[in-house]
Amino acid sequence: MAGLTRLCALAELSEGVSRGFDPWGAGHDQVFALLHQGQVRVYRNSCPHLDVPLEYRKDRYLSADGAWIICYAHGARFDPADGRCVYGPCLDEHLRALPHRVEDAAVWLEG
Ligand code: FES
Repeated sequence: MAGLTRLCALAELSEGVSRGFDPWGAGHDQVFALLHQGQVRVYRNSCPHLDVPLEYRKDRYLSADGAWIICYAHGARFDPADGRCVYGPCLDEHLRALPHRVEDAAVWLEG
């Protein structure tokens, strides 16, 4: 499928769990995905505050209760539904949502 990059099987995502990916071979995860209220969300792994990765270790993008995306640099909190910062130094800025699709029981990055 031209223009599509497979991230993972849909079954590998579940509510409250996030996963990071390196689809362009950068050597670190540049994209992360999660399942939120039944919807797959895919974001660029870059905080709008200082353009640094969000996770504190592999695949850890969420708060302990799984309710929020967290930037572990300065504790910014983002709504998983739309990537809007609801708390922290980049209040009301957004994570960059990436176009994706769910097809053949897998999550694909578009473009
Ligand atoms: S770099 Fe993310 S909150 Fe500062």
